[in-house]
Amino acid sequence: MAPTIIGLLGSPLHEGNTAQLMARAVQGARDAGCTVELIPVTSLDFQGCQEMFFCRDHETCILDDDMQQVYPKFKGMDGLILATPVMTMGIPGTLKAFMDRFQVFFMAKYHRHESFIPRDRKPARAGIFISISGMDIPEVFVGAKLTTRAFFDIIDCRYQDELLVNGMDGILDITTRPDLLDAAYRKGFALGQSLAAPAGK
Ligand SMILES: Cc1cc2nc3c(=O)[nH]c(=O)nc-3n(C[C@H](O)[C@H](O)[C@H](O)COP(=O)(O)O)c2cc1C
Repeated sequence: MAPTIIGLLGSPLHEGNTAQLMARAVQGARDAGCTVELIPVTSLDFQGCQEMFFCRDHETCILDDDMQQVYPKFKGMDGLILATPVMTMGIPGTLKAFMDRFQVFFMAKYHRHESFIPRDRKPARAGIFISISGMDIPEVFVGAKLTTRAFFDIIDCRYQDELLVNGMDGILDITTRPDLLDAAYRKGFALGQSLAAPAGK
């Protein structure tokens, strides 16, 4: 069976610059033999974590919203492509709220020591991080990367690679930079290839 990848889009613009980088990475992963499901976070109906701690003792969240359909997908996936713009020097609020709802995975892994991802599947799960920012300053991706790495740890997904594009305020339209779109395609293809034919197998 083809490996499954989730393409998680953090931008509210589903045809914006981030979305176009995502589309190229998704195409690369598909060309490498993977099945990809795109999830634009802003199309989901969900709340942020309310700290009710139901997930401390249960395998899901007490809040009955779209996250209930998302959790099984993240348990079953082989790979993740996470693409997002930087907002206020970090992960945009809706995507951050989405990540916070993975407290369900955090409690399973770190509190009950019963990760949803079986030990033998963990090494195979990998993801890439694609991010763009308006500004061109050295620390512009620091916050977003810290959060993303924590999220990858919580869902047992190895942080395989990244594509960080700064200075979008100057570039404006990503289609004027085919080199960046090609880089996204190559990273998606490499992820797909590594999942479809893991090294040494
Ligand atoms: C609400 C908001 C906050 C932003 N905050 C930052 C920021 O802190 N640093 C930065 O470099 N760019 C920031 N940006 C610029 C975006 O990262 C940039 O415009 C990006 O290209 C948007 O991607 P998209 O059009 O695919 O959503 C912000 C944009 C918005 C809308």
